[in-house]
Amino acid sequence: MMKACLAVCMLLVCLGQLHAEPKILCYYESWFAYPSHGAGAMQVKQFDNTLCTHRIYGYNGVSSSAEVLISDPWLETSTTYHQLYDWGHDKGSDLSLMGIGGFNFALNLTYAAQNPTIFTTSLVNHLKTYALDGAVIEWSSNHWKYEYMADYVTLLKHLKEAFAPNKWVLGTVLAADQPGYDIKSVAEQVDLIIIQSFDYHGSWNTEVGHSSAIEDQKISVNRWVENGATKEKTIVTVPAYGHTWTLTDTTKTDPGSPAKGAGTKGPFTDSPGKLGVNELMLRLKDDPTGWTRKEDGALGAAYYYKGDQWVSIEDTKTAEAKGAWVKSAGLGGIAVQAINNDDFNGLASTTKFPLTQAIKKGYA
Ligand SMILES: *[C@@H]1O[C@H](CO)[C@@H](O)[C@H](O)[C@H]1NC(C)=O
Repeated sequence: MMKACLAVCMLLVCLGQLHAEPKILCYYESWFAYPSHGAGAMQVKQFDNTLCTHRIYGYNGVSSSAEVLISDPWLETSTTYHQLYDWGHDKGSDLSLMGIGGFNFALNLTYAAQNPTIFTTSLVNHLKTYALDGAVIEWSSNHWKYEYMADYVTLLKHLKEAFAPNKWVLGTVLAADQPGYDIKSVAEQVDLIIIQSFDYHGSWNTEVGHSSAIEDQKISVNRWVENGATKEKTIVTVPAYGHTWTLTDTTKTDPGSPAKGAGTKGPFTDSPGKLGVNELMLRLKDDPTGWTRKEDGALGAAYYYKGDQWVSIEDTKTAEAKGAWVKSAGLGGIAVQAINNDDFNGLASTTKFPLTQAIKKGYA
């Protein structure tokens, strides 16, 4: 009896070890280095290199000759910054990766797909120069063209082969809800599949809604997993920002209520209708009783309103719940998009990086 029990226990321990602790990937947006972001400007030196398992320096481009294009060369040559250099050289227990593509930078990935050998050589050289541990290729959203799918898989094959001797990490970001990807072939080539599970609603909608409800994220992630993404490689993205609206009628505050457009801009982020978690925390600190927090329990999302301002955003509570979901579902981890929108300098909270810390708490 004792022996049988012992065997079962040991088996459980072994199974437990098969489920590795979920990863935590932290994006950094290099343009946040600039002082124009005020107290929201963040240098690579302000990063906590024990916080994440991987960090991704976004975003770099591709030239028409299929070579890696450092998107902000001034940040590298200036004596104050050399951010990407520090990204690779000042790392702690985390792995530092280069992000390529994303936003408008994704457009030129077609050059890379058409010239995989040139691009791979160029990327390998850059990873060596900056002492990086791998790369994440982000070909997503508006610039995705289905006719490049086969070329993209070929490109990933080239990269995988070139990365293997250095044990570099290869990741890809692809959109959450776009059908037509050859998910299985992509999954075979990469270590990390980062799903863009955010921006489900934003001020482009005329009704207020959840930007990253857990139920919407589950639908996206399940679609990928059912179509060939390996669970352990699949990374859920949790945005460190939310979307804002100005309500049409201040008595109608439920999700789905009409809005006139984006809400009031915060001091740090540039895009209309986008608000960093750090910006929301500052608002709550400045006016602790003015804001109402509500939870949409069925969908797993929180929202805040005050007067005609309505914000759908992650907070420490939703972030912790997402950590717990990812862990229990056996997924690969969470990517925080982006770390510069978290309260990285503790302006409005007692701990630095409260959102990212909450995700880690959810893993525990
Ligand atoms: C695309 O390539 C062109 C030509 O090399 C370059 O001038 C441009 O900056 C690139 N754009 C992006 C977003 O990488």
